[in-house]
Amino acid sequence: MSVISLRRLRRNPQIRSLVAETRLRAEDLILPYFVIDWKDRREPISSMLGIYRFSADNLLKELDEVKALGIKAVLLFGIPDKKDNAASESYSDNGVVQKAIRRIRKEIKGIVIITDVCMCSYTLHGHCGVIKKSKLHAGTRDFYIDNDGTLKILAKIAVSHATAGADFVAPSAMMDGQVSAIRDAMDKKGFSDTGILAYSAKFASNFYGLFRNALDSAPQFGDRKSYQMDFRNSKEALREIEQDINEGADIVMVKPALAYLDIIYRAKEKFNIPIAAYNVSGEYSMIKKLTSGDKAKERELVLEALTSMKRAGADLIITYFAKEVGKWLGRR
Ligand code: PBG
Repeated sequence: MSVISLRRLRRNPQIRSLVAETRLRAEDLILPYFVIDWKDRREPISSMLGIYRFSADNLLKELDEVKALGIKAVLLFGIPDKKDNAASESYSDNGVVQKAIRRIRKEIKGIVIITDVCMCSYTLHGHCGVIKKSKLHAGTRDFYIDNDGTLKILAKIAVSHATAGADFVAPSAMMDGQVSAIRDAMDKKGFSDTGILAYSAKFASNFYGLFRNALDSAPQFGDRKSYQMDFRNSKEALREIEQDINEGADIVMVKPALAYLDIIYRAKEKFNIPIAAYNVSGEYSMIKKLTSGDKAKERELVLEALTSMKRAGADLIITYFAKEVGKWLGRR
């Protein structure tokens, strides 16, 4: 008997496409945007080549283009003009994100609006929660993040986003009980249709640094390791995800993506819920640096990286490359 040929299925591009097991589609993608106040602003982010902060009017123009590329969803991050340690801009009706949501809702049809729910870009200290001075923890640290105090603020942020018209809120502070606190608060206010995309397995990662430049949200002291996950753990990630599902999450997320494909895979095997992967700022910049402006190379690398996330089991991918990918996929 002759050797079985696996190469027969690789003979030409048409045959390869015919038998491809994994397909990346524009509608799998969620595009993150950094929103700032006022009008006519479009500020390049120096640490993330090709990424900008937009004022709401310019964001609307962007979204027309995004829609035309077949992308269905955006994830909004707010950068307030003024920060304070109560994060008061984060839940204000006049906050940057709330205003942007209302404008998108009014002027653009057919875009799913997802909003990041966290305190870090709204506080002076840059932590994702409320800081308390610690006596109990004296000797180890002189401060701690107050879990339940933070839940109250996260719930207020989520309700204000839902009120403005968000389709999904995405809590990213990694506080215990954040999904149920938000679910309860939104239900009580009559927003039972607003969904929750939970940052469930969010690791304390070194791949976030550039994003923190973009949002000016780096912690001014300490680190995030008492709330974000330890990168040595995967069983714990499954516990986090399970807990968020039990608390009422509609979609769960693994973040970052590329160095955490094993977590995506295990989550997909274990749970019957849509899984999102966050292709974070450091992953974005690695590819940008590696390809230094060569668009053909960038295309091949990005498609490989994002397809690997889908192959691992991600249903949705949050990526700064979404617009580019939309263009590339459209041309195939
Ligand atoms: C804030 C938040 C971070 C990211 C998304 N939401 C940064 C952090 O936790 O420090 C990172 C996104 C990226 O790197 O692209 N809670």
